[in-house]
Amino acid sequence: MSDSVPYLDLPAQLRAIRSDLDQAIARTIDKCSFCLGPDTAQFEKDFAAYIGTKHALGFNSGTSALHVALLLLNVGPGDEVITTPFTFVATSWAISYVGARPVYVDIEDGSMNLNPALVERAITPRTKAILPVHLYGHPFDLDPILAIAKKHGLPVVEDACQAHGAKYKNQTVGSFGAISCFSFYPGKNLGACGEGGALLTNEPAFEKRGRALREHGSTVRYYHDEIGFNYRMEGIQGAVLGVKLKHLPHWTAERTRVAHRYHELLKDTPLQLPAEAGYARSAWHLYVVRHARREELKKHLEKNGIGCALHYPLPLHLQKCYASLGYRPGAFPVAEKAARECLSLPIYPELTELQIQRVSAVVHDFFRA
Ligand SMILES: Cc1ncc(COP(=O)(O)O)c(C=O)c1O
Repeated sequence: MSDSVPYLDLPAQLRAIRSDLDQAIARTIDKCSFCLGPDTAQFEKDFAAYIGTKHALGFNSGTSALHVALLLLNVGPGDEVITTPFTFVATSWAISYVGARPVYVDIEDGSMNLNPALVERAITPRTKAILPVHLYGHPFDLDPILAIAKKHGLPVVEDACQAHGAKYKNQTVGSFGAISCFSFYPGKNLGACGEGGALLTNEPAFEKRGRALREHGSTVRYYHDEIGFNYRMEGIQGAVLGVKLKHLPHWTAERTRVAHRYHELLKDTPLQLPAEAGYARSAWHLYVVRHARREELKKHLEKNGIGCALHYPLPLHLQKCYASLGYRPGAFPVAEKAARECLSLPIYPELTELQIQRVSAVVHDFFRA
C-alpha cells in the first residue's frame, strides 16, 4: 500500500550515509582491525566527549556493558539492586547475571520512569546500587534519585540504552551516574550495523578494570587477573558508529520535529500523549501514546498499513523468568497499567510530514468510528 508507514525505516537512514559507511568499513577491512582497534578507540574518545564523561569503553552490546557495570561495583550474590519493572528485560539481566536480586519500584505515570518518591523505602541493608532507565529517551528524574543514593552511599548506574543525547537540566544523560551504559543495537538513535554497546565513567579505576573485564580479564595478553569475558566491540562497528555519531545531533533534532508534530496533530484525540518533564529534553527514541483500547487501536493502525509496536506488553515482575522473585499482579499498578495501554507510533528522523499526517489521520479515524 503506497500510503503505508513502516514502524522503522533503517534503509532510509542507511541510504543517506551509505558511501561514508562503505568507505569506513572498507578502511577497517584493509587494516584488518576487527576486534576493538583504532576505529573503536577513536569512537570511544568521540562518544565520551559527546556525552561528557572522561571515559567510554566499546562493548559488543548494551547488555554486556550493564553486566560489567555491576561487576565493577562489586554487586554479587545476596545483593539487591533497585530498578524499574517497566523496561526492556536486559536492564534486569545485568542484575541476574551477577547473582543479585532485582528489587522493583513502581514508575511515574507521566514519564513512565522510576518514581523517585518510592525509591527510599525499597532500600535495605542488602541494596548495593540503583539502576534506573531513561525510558524511550526521556530522562528519569536524576536529582532526587542522586540525592537518595548519596544519602545512603549507593552508586547509580544509568541505563541510557535508549537515550543517546537526551538532556537533564541541560546536561547530557549518561554523565551523571557512577557508570552509564548505552546500546547501539541497529534500531537505536545511534545504531551499529550489528550489535554494540558502551560503558561510560569518570572513574579511572572503573575504566581500567572495565577494559580488562571486557577482554578476558587481562591487561597483558595471556595473563588473566580475574575471570573475564569476550565483550569487545568489533572494529567495523566502531568505524560505523564513528560515521553515524556526526549525524546524531541532526537526527535528534529531526526526531524532536516528528514528536512535536504528533503533539499538535494528536492533541484533540483521547490519547494520553508523551510529555517532556520541565527538566527534560527527550532523545525521542520512541513516541509512546496510551489508551485503554490499545489493542483495538493497534489492529486499526496495522490494518491501515501503519507500523506500531508495544514497549512493553508485560512488566518484568510478571515475566515467567522472574516468577521466583515472588511478585504478584497488582504489585506495581502504574507499570501494569502502562503495559496495558502503551502503543509506540513510528518515529525516526526520516519520517516525512506526509507520513506524520497519515499516521495522525488513521488515529483520528479510529476515534471517529
Ligand atoms: C533499556 C535498555 N536496556 C538495555 C538494553 C540492551 O542493549 P543491547 O540490545 O545492546 O544488549 C536495551 C536495548 O536493547 C534497552 O532498551
